[in-house]
Amino acid sequence: MTIVPISVPTPARDRIVIFDTTLRDGEQSAGASMTFDEKIQVAELLDAMGVDVIEAGFPIASEGDFEAVSEIARRVKTAIPAGLARAAFKDIDRAADALRHARAFRIHTFISTSPVHMKYKLQMEADAVLEKVIASVTRARSHTDDVEWSAEDATRTEPDFLARCVEAAIRAGATTINLPDTVGYTTPDEYSAMFRSIIERVPNADKAVFSTHCHNDLGMAVANSLAGVIGGARQIECTVNGLGERAGNAALEEIVMAIRTRSDVLPFTTGIRTPMLTQASKLVSTVTGFPVQYNKAIVGKNAFAHESGIHQDGMLKHVETYEIMRPEDVGVRETNLVMGKHSGRHAFREKLKDLGYDLGENALEEAFNRMKALADRKKVVYDEDIEALVEDEITSA
Ligand code: KIV
Ligand code: ZN
Repeated sequence: MTIVPISVPTPARDRIVIFDTTLRDGEQSAGASMTFDEKIQVAELLDAMGVDVIEAGFPIASEGDFEAVSEIARRVKTAIPAGLARAAFKDIDRAADALRHARAFRIHTFISTSPVHMKYKLQMEADAVLEKVIASVTRARSHTDDVEWSAEDATRTEPDFLARCVEAAIRAGATTINLPDTVGYTTPDEYSAMFRSIIERVPNADKAVFSTHCHNDLGMAVANSLAGVIGGARQIECTVNGLGERAGNAALEEIVMAIRTRSDVLPFTTGIRTPMLTQASKLVSTVTGFPVQYNKAIVGKNAFAHESGIHQDGMLKHVETYEIMRPEDVGVRETNLVMGKHSGRHAFREKLKDLGYDLGENALEEAFNRMKALADRKKVVYDEDIEALVEDEITSA
């Protein structure tokens, strides 16, 4: 009997639009402001990395923001530049003016829809907010076909009112609908259900792309963004290193690598050139002066470092024992087996080989014991420490 191979159809993978807001929401992080030149440098890197939409700033906020958005709009090659605008004609017109030199551009206009924001911040009734939604989107559409409308504080908005606003925004011409978790309050199940329900109940939902925008106040911004996509969103708003207001926004590098690494449960793709992630992280850290925590997922100094002997031994036998991604896929040259007090002989021998030493068993044992003693006094034993220690061992032998 001949066995005919069955061709397994590859599941269609929806493309997720990556909307980077490092230069707008990221810059709103206290103390993270960037100069004009730094913003251009970041925008050019994001563009080269394959970001789909770059929110370049909030043009009405300052002359500096206006100038930076204008220059970015002129320079980007493939990304769509976007500018933020409140639901006010002067904001919207200013954003359009800043973006006018781009091949194509997006105006992103927003208004709060939650009871607490409407009552205290806007001091407006719901019907007046709804009118502003329609007026602002209509105005933005008079400048461009690409209009994003955001319901600020969507996750604390009453669902019927949210659905009415979304329907009205789409009818007025919005092509992207963003439902932000402005205060980082939601949970993955809840956020996913919100998208599912809005997309189901809004009759014209198929005319727009839905978007997530998550803040990290409870440490769930990335998980919530991915849950939003499972609920039907197809754009994710995020920032490099998770920079952003208060505890930050969803981290771009984590979202992209989660989608890439867990394609079995997240059947999506992005257009991001992942080997550029580390470079982007370093640039944003340098220009903002915000260090990246050592144990930060994907781009932290220790993200591909292994110190314990058991892990190092496993890694030397097969990299998949303790690594779920290849370091080169995020722009890190190689896995780093760090010598410390938890390291084992196997890794130490490999380290010596890398440094060009071939010691006999006794000398190796002696050098290993001295490295351990040193590691008890020092947190990390550097290559130079090992070289000094081995040279000493060789000369005293
Ligand atoms: O967090 C938020 O709601 C925002 C909006 C302006 C989109 O940043
Ligand atoms: Zn935000």
